[in-house]
Amino acid sequence: MLSTRHLLGIKQINAADIDLIFRQADHFKEVLNRPIKKVPSLRDVTIVNLFFENSTRTRISFELAEKRLNADVLNFTSSSSSVSKGETLIDTVNNILAMKVDMVVMRHPSPGAAVFLNKNIPASIINAGDGTHEHPTQALLDAYSIREKLGSVAGKKILILGDIMHSRVALSNIYCLQKLGAEVKLCCPPTLMPKHIESLGVEVEFDVKKALEWCDVANVLRIQLERQNIQYFPSLREYALYYGLNKELLQSIGKEIVIMHPGPINRGVEINSDVADGPHSIILDQVENGVAIRMAVLYLIHQARIGVKSTI
Ligand code: CP
Repeated sequence: MLSTRHLLGIKQINAADIDLIFRQADHFKEVLNRPIKKVPSLRDVTIVNLFFENSTRTRISFELAEKRLNADVLNFTSSSSSVSKGETLIDTVNNILAMKVDMVVMRHPSPGAAVFLNKNIPASIINAGDGTHEHPTQALLDAYSIREKLGSVAGKKILILGDIMHSRVALSNIYCLQKLGAEVKLCCPPTLMPKHIESLGVEVEFDVKKALEWCDVANVLRIQLERQNIQYFPSLREYALYYGLNKELLQSIGKEIVIMHPGPINRGVEINSDVADGPHSIILDQVENGVAIRMAVLYLIHQARIGVKSTI
């Protein structure tokens, strides 16, 4: 059984939890490749997807995972709700829970929103991304995709390249990869590197070519202009020139590395199409694995809620 009945962040779970989620996801991935892709594991369980911030992959992936498990699914977007009339987050969620909802999946622009909700409401909460803080299911599907491609995560050298400062994917990946025994290095312009990040046990490298020569896997992050209220580099063109991944740069390092990106991609900025769509990219495998990972998380959190041990 998981050590928790919530998924607030990777910080709050342990390596045994991650291993259990991966083994459960292996089972659900096999289910997803059957002609009939549904199982009744969450029949009579009601889940609300609360999205206070835009999403394509995470929202669709959670909804599909819930439907594949036969859960009853409610979708909430803040723009069409009474939040726009001034209702608080706690009031909004408590009103939804009064309609007998069991689990809450939430994306919110404020760091700490999932932890805050957890302290104030009785339902199980799954964090689908909270501001610049954590995106735990993204880190789980990223590490699962590395395990699938390279056989294991332990001992692998993983580079996170891009806008580390404004990324929730970076922090969740650092926690997850380290718990699984990988080495993590970060690379970006100095202005986008958070101060004291080495205290998390990661290495920092500002030279992209050296960083690429070191790694087995490069996980490339988007420049998050919507979270930048000052200019951190002169222009997108200059960023692409010095930190963007392209075929020529990858050919110059003299070895093959696995290319990942959580999406959405800004083609021609942090990654060129010849790399994103190239033979070493596993970007769409990450998206595919996201459904199995989210099925596993939802199922195991439900099991923890009701106190039942997984048979996996
Ligand atoms: N990777 C990710 O979180 O994508 P979305 O913002 O589209 O959900």
